[in-house]
Amino acid sequence: RMRSYFISMASIFVAAVSLLTCQSNTASRDAIDQRVDELLAKMTLEEKIGQMNQYNGFWDVTGPAPNEEQARKKYDHFKQGLVGSVLNVRGTAHVRKLQELVVKESRLGIPLIFGQDVIHGQETITPIPLAEAASWDLAAIEKSAQVAAAEAAAIGLNWTFAPMIDISRDPRWGRVMEGAGEDPYLGAKVAVARVKGFQGNDLSAPNTIAACAKHFAGYGFSEAGRDYNAVDIGAYTLHNVVLPPFKAAVDADVKTVMNSFNVLNGVPATGNKYLQRDILKDRWKFNGLIVSDWASIFEMIPHGHARDLKQAAELAIHAGNDMDMESYAYVQHLKSLVEEGKVSEEQVNDAVRRILRLKFELGLFDDPYRYCDSVREKSVLMQPDHLTAALDVARKSIVLLKNDRGFLPLNKAQKNIAVIGALAADKNSPLGNWRAGADENSAVSVLEGLQKYTLAIRYAKGADVVVGKPEFIRETAVNETDSSGFREAVALARQSDVVIMVLGEDGFLSGEGRSRTNLNLPGVQERLLKAVHGVNKNIILVLMNGRPLTINWANANIPAIVEAWQLGTRSGDAIAQVLFGDYNPSGKLPMTFPKSVGQIPLYYNHFNTGRPDPTGLVFWSHYIDETNEPLYPFGYGLSYSEFTYSDLKIDTTDRQAINVSCTVTNTGRVAGEEVAQLYIRDRVSSLVRPVKELKGFRKFSLEPGASQNVQFVLTDAELGFYDADGQWLVEPGEFDVMIGTSSVKGLVGRFSR
Ligand code: GLC
Repeated sequence: RMRSYFISMASIFVAAVSLLTCQSNTASRDAIDQRVDELLAKMTLEEKIGQMNQYNGFWDVTGPAPNEEQARKKYDHFKQGLVGSVLNVRGTAHVRKLQELVVKESRLGIPLIFGQDVIHGQETITPIPLAEAASWDLAAIEKSAQVAAAEAAAIGLNWTFAPMIDISRDPRWGRVMEGAGEDPYLGAKVAVARVKGFQGNDLSAPNTIAACAKHFAGYGFSEAGRDYNAVDIGAYTLHNVVLPPFKAAVDADVKTVMNSFNVLNGVPATGNKYLQRDILKDRWKFNGLIVSDWASIFEMIPHGHARDLKQAAELAIHAGNDMDMESYAYVQHLKSLVEEGKVSEEQVNDAVRRILRLKFELGLFDDPYRYCDSVREKSVLMQPDHLTAALDVARKSIVLLKNDRGFLPLNKAQKNIAVIGALAADKNSPLGNWRAGADENSAVSVLEGLQKYTLAIRYAKGADVVVGKPEFIRETAVNETDSSGFREAVALARQSDVVIMVLGEDGFLSGEGRSRTNLNLPGVQERLLKAVHGVNKNIILVLMNGRPLTINWANANIPAIVEAWQLGTRSGDAIAQVLFGDYNPSGKLPMTFPKSVGQIPLYYNHFNTGRPDPTGLVFWSHYIDETNEPLYPFGYGLSYSEFTYSDLKIDTTDRQAINVSCTVTNTGRVAGEEVAQLYIRDRVSSLVRPVKELKGFRKFSLEPGASQNVQFVLTDAELGFYDADGQWLVEPGEFDVMIGTSSVKGLVGRFSR
């Protein structure tokens, strides 16, 4: 009886604390809203519009750079209180200088908010987000975002333009590296982990920053995978595939959202009222701010949606866009639009409230220089526990794609190892293309990582991947012709017992503005691989890339293949630890690897069609020159262990909470981590559903011979879907369920409800 007494007292205490917490949050929100309204009442129309104006700071240019005339005008605007935010200014000295100019010289001294693309790390660079998604380890992903936030805040920033949560099924698009792949369920979970990691529990703390869910919406469906291209998708796909990660981010209290460059079904996202007001602000009750993407208000002119910048400003504010990044549209035209009655001052007030609220929550009014501590700046950047966290998430992001005859892991006593490929010595490409404040060549290369294990290594470049030194904003030329290094590489391979080849993409061959029409190893690399294979079959292929690649020949001929993405500062260490077995690879693909670019879009959660199966005649859904199957499917990844699934149980006693479970056993010889994935299929529904939908996953470690019971509960939240109006439907009927090690392998069952 005493035990139950203590349990009930504890639960009362927990309830009281949560109630008090909720009340205190509401109280602090009300207090902030009161301070916002008091300040708003003092502001002139020009000063209000100034808060809606965001300028680039020229430290970096992450979009079409403005001309010098505009640059001179910008400086005066800071002093006149006509700038609310700046991006791409970094370092406490620069931030403090600009903040002092605004706080001391403008009439009301409203502090600036400083933003930057801290996409996967500030100075300690963690894996590109597509790689982190392959870890399926939400705690590691959250920790990675915490590290990024701590370092960003330490250099004066209070806002990151991340997480990018665009679902995409098209690896031709260069920005797939920036997202979480093709699946809305995994994408939503990763989005929440990153928002929580960036924002923490106290936005005014000196190690948290405001996050930004981007790009709203549909950018990942750019036609033909060509960046900035039009997007034309049905509302059914919009609501079931594109929007769920954004809804999850809003429910996780993301403070800002960035809209997207693309037209969505005929209307540019920046001027799209349905997206920004109807869905985001009205239906989802989003109370943060929406910032345009770089010059995307202006770009409504070339889109053919606005005749001039003034009309673009009018369309954007009516559609719900609160802040103008680098279009100069609001600062030039919003005042006259209000005076002409085309825009109400209340619309301006609503936008300004959202911006001021964020500045109060960040603590910038209490202390505009709270993020400008130069002592902290030095102590926080690249600190040991950040580097440890970067290694941890990097190792977990590696996906073992092939391992014939247990070729891997390498014996640590292995001698006479050849390492071939320019990327093996590359200390820049592992940083990816969104590398924020990372120093040049600050990544541990594969070669350096391996040399911590053994010096029985000889290196030959074989061939350059690119020509010259690639830059963030300039085109990167692929080496299509220079094979002069092959001879040396082949000679080395001939004399060696094992060859580790590191091939793939330069860090600037994926990312924004870097769409490709093919997904092969760029340039002469496959020729190099074949030449080496001609003299030595004992090859381990390590891929370093920002997107799925069609490595069909390698998959058919190379005994071991490791997907190592672009893993950030600790890249080489993570890869070496996997190759030598100190870390048993546990990653699973968050995006399908097609066999051919001609299959795209190719993704696991596709519809069945009316002719899904071969009939012996041509009349079924297929190609005459390729199979429908991917090279590697969504959710796929091998281990040095073996995991066996057994004993699937489906308990429908409670129709509102279907319990599905099974046992997973490590039948291998080494400990390892598995990602057990749960998929459903709604077999008959008013709107057809995919042949498979991820609705749960568990990542866990197992010692050799050990077993674990994995359990999932399926409720309306997992079994329903959106209709084309965005209404959630839950329909009775039969459901298939599968628990397995990938989207194509597992135990299957069926239930009705
Ligand atoms: C870029 C990107 C966006 C980024 C912004 C600021 O063009 O589209 O993701 O946050 O501009 O750099």
